[in-house]
Amino acid sequence: MAQLINGKQISADMRAEMAEECRKLQAEKGITPGLAVIIVGEDPASQVYVRNKKKACEEIGFYSETYELPAETSQKQLEGLVDELNANPKIHGILVQLPLPAHLDSNAILLHIDPKKDVDAFHPTNVGHIMIGDYTFLPCTPAGVMELLKRSGVSVSGKNCVVVGRSNIVGKPQAMLLLQANGTVTIAHSKTPDLGAVTRTADVLVVAVGRAGMITGDMVKEGAVVIDVGMNRNAEGKLCGDVDFASVEPKVSFITPVPGGVGPMTITMLMRNTLTAAERYGKN
Ligand code: GUN
Repeated sequence: MAQLINGKQISADMRAEMAEECRKLQAEKGITPGLAVIIVGEDPASQVYVRNKKKACEEIGFYSETYELPAETSQKQLEGLVDELNANPKIHGILVQLPLPAHLDSNAILLHIDPKKDVDAFHPTNVGHIMIGDYTFLPCTPAGVMELLKRSGVSVSGKNCVVVGRSNIVGKPQAMLLLQANGTVTIAHSKTPDLGAVTRTADVLVVAVGRAGMITGDMVKEGAVVIDVGMNRNAEGKLCGDVDFASVEPKVSFITPVPGGVGPMTITMLMRNTLTAAERYGKN
């Protein structure tokens, strides 16, 4: 039977550690970490994420501002707001919730965010820093996965790691972080023939494709560590991952549940980046 990796607990531990660091920063330097979150339009899932980010800030003791803009907001208006936040000394981190409405150019907006306040680590400058292993911010979900592995005592060094999915938000940076941790990394994706043959080579398998239950028990190696980044709704509206938990769990050594695995870590790592930004504020 697999050991469950409890993301809820690990996330709570990290938030308690950050609350302490936040108090210290306030006492010693008079700085309260500040996060600004911008949401454009009324996508219900995005609204939930944004609310949870605000709650996490309150829990840890950060200052936060939330901007809920109408769907018809123009590129110029949005860039204007980002410019103001770039210049605002109370704000150390800026997050523009994705996806943006189709008429807006997401890449151009992300380029507008000061890389020092880019707590998502989506700006090409920060993506480049990750590539060369010299970074301030790590992308939240992949960093959350690394933290789950570390705090569960799983070493990646020398292991075969397979990442399924190649998105800019998860798959690609995840592969980079596993490589930096000395894993032997393969990226598989929708055009990979015989996916099972690849996933069965994995000692550490990270799945981030967004398709409910696509990784089944016959696709994993006995004793593997399985991290499920998927967040899907099944036919009954229940949250479920990309991994078919029932058939995979009996074969593997560690597994993350959905919900309660990777999910809680993403916002926690965003908080970590915001704290780091505040600690570095005014430095190069
Ligand atoms: N939408 C879904 N995930 C994310 C994320 O990590 N950051 C932002 N900004 N938008 C998202």
